[in-house]
Order: sequence, then C-alpha cells, then structure tokens
Amino acid sequence: MKFFLDTANLDELKKGAAWGIVDGVTTNPSLIAKEGNPIEEQIKKICDIVDGDISAEVIAVTHREMVEQGKSLAKIHKNVVIKCPLTRDGIIATNELAKSGYRVNVTLCFSAAQALIAAKAGAYIISPFVGRLDDIGQDGMDLIRQIVTIYENYGYKTKILAASLRSTNHVIDSAIAGAHIGTMPFKVMDALFTHVLTDKGLEQFLKDYSKVFHDAPVPVGV
Ligand code: G3P
Repeated sequence: MKFFLDTANLDELKKGAAWGIVDGVTTNPSLIAKEGNPIEEQIKKICDIVDGDISAEVIAVTHREMVEQGKSLAKIHKNVVIKCPLTRDGIIATNELAKSGYRVNVTLCFSAAQALIAAKAGAYIISPFVGRLDDIGQDGMDLIRQIVTIYENYGYKTKILAASLRSTNHVIDSAIAGAHIGTMPFKVMDALFTHVLTDKGLEQFLKDYSKVFHDAPVPVGV
C-alpha cells in the first residue's frame, strides 16, 4: 500500500519525507488555503520535498475551465496529478485530460456508482472519502470494499486512494480492503509508529544492557 500525506504544510511534509515512507501527497483547495500561498507556488514547493504523485485540485466548475486549469497545474512539475471533482463537468474534463495523456485524480467520491463512472472516464486515481461517510452515519470502509470488488471484476486500472482517513484503524482497514493508496493527515501517519510495547521493550533492553556495560543510550521520549 502506498502512503500519501494529505497536507500542504511544508514542515509536515519535510518531517514525513525524512521517514522515507511517503510515496506522494494529496492537497485540496482547503488545505492549500490554510498555508496562505497561491496553489502554483505551494505545489512547486511540495514537489521539491516529496518525489511522488502530488495531487493539485482545480477550482473551476465548468469542464472547459477544468481542462485549462488542469493543464496549467500539470506544467508545474512532472509529478503533478490533476485533481477534478466528481461532477458531470469533472468527468467530462477527466475524459478529455486522460485521452490527452494527463493523469487525473477524481475526488469527492461517495458512492460505488461514482467510482465506476470515474474508472470509465479513464481516471488514474479515484478518491473515496471514508471519514466523511462515517460522519453522516454510513460505513466509509464499505465503499472501499465495494470499489475494490468492482474494479477487480472489470480489470480497471484506476488506483483506489482511500481518503479522509482519520485514524490508524482507517489506514489498516483500507489496507485490508485492498486500497492501493491511503492518504492521511500527518498526525495519523505519525501515530502509525506508536505502540506502548515498543517503548516499554526498548526501555527494558537499554536498562538491561546498561546494568552490565554502563554505556547504553538513554531512550528518548520513553
Ligand atoms: O483527501 C481528502 C481529504 O482531505 C478529506 O479529509 O478529513 O477533510 O474529510 P477530511
């Protein structure tokens, strides 16, 4: 499973990139706005930090403008993946961009029917939002399972990117369901490292060693 960071914050991206487990980045207009720089500027900086797919979302609502904006976002860096919303216009734009060889991440997917449409339009990535479905009392993970089955049934090459992941359980369950990619906030990726028995075990190992050799390092953060 590929791990993407769902953030446009450069400090978080630098920390994540240093771990060597970040395969790409997803952004959306809300995340870009939070950082205060225009999208072109922020995406360029992100591309300098992470070498992998970097999703940059159009803010246009008509397919003509989406195609135009998408092409201009793709010029920023070879790793940019154009993100289009799952609207009728978004699907027309995805079709046109995909036919011209651009990679499109179709976002704001909340149903299996929408995911099927995106695959038919030639999307490179589909982004079903797990957490936002949970928020309205549905089971977001069911959607991931449905899309995995449907894409396998027909051999669609569209990659399933589990988005709106809010917890480590969301990441694990997406991996079990067979999502190709999980995109997560920095704090969720950070939490994936943590286990109380790892901390306890390390503390004990170092204590035991230092009793005999007196030069064991002091565990940090234990
Ligand atoms: O990638 C989509 C993601 O940013 C949405 O996450 O937590 O705002 O629902 P959230």
